[in-house]
Amino acid sequence: MRAMQPRIRPATVNDQRAIWAWVWRSGLNPLNLNWRNFVVAEVEGQLAGFGQLRPHRDGSLELASLVVRPGYRRQGIGSRIVRALLAGQQGSIYLFCESKLQPYYARLGFQPIPPAMLPPALARMHRMAIWLMRLASAISRREIGIVPMRWVSQ
Ligand SMILES: CC(C)(COP(=O)(O)OP(=O)(O)OC[C@H]1O[C@@H](n2cnc3c(N)ncnc32)[C@H](O)[C@@H]1OP(=O)(O)O)[C@@H](O)C(=O)NCCC(=O)NCCS
Repeated sequence: MRAMQPRIRPATVNDQRAIWAWVWRSGLNPLNLNWRNFVVAEVEGQLAGFGQLRPHRDGSLELASLVVRPGYRRQGIGSRIVRALLAGQQGSIYLFCESKLQPYYARLGFQPIPPAMLPPALARMHRMAIWLMRLASAISRREIGIVPMRWVSQ
């Protein structure tokens, strides 16, 4: 069953608290969650999901903090948020994802890249992420891989 069409809009300061809460709950990177960088999906006035383009000091942009609330998943909302974030962007956008989500982001135009192709700020993050993933793999006793990906505007 397809859900109602979500309304995609820029986030406002009123969304900040929910963004923090859902990012924490989802186990994603809780740093740099400034509402100004987010877009939000609403269904019937309820927050269904969000995502951001996180700016880094070296000027690079990372697609990050993509969360769709459990009851709204697998209805195309995450893809719509990603497309809204990419619309009108020029140049490269990077992301890190668990390897199971690589095909999902590939459908949205991202390609896996070797870590050597990451800009400096993201290369540092990637090194940290690898250590965190090793820890998470040891705790959960399942191999969790992390993949850097890049989207380039046409
Ligand atoms: C990943 C996430 C944002 C996808 O949002 P969504 O609105 O359900 O995505 P869409 O409806 O656009 O696309 C659904 C597709 O995503 C892929 N997908 C979603 N969750 C997946 C998972 N856990 N494992 C593998 N593929 C997955 C599948 O290809 C799925 O298609 P299918 O339903 O035909 O199998 C959502 O599951 C979520 O919030 N997860 C928790 C937070 C998270 O992991 N964020 C990503 C950080 S990189």
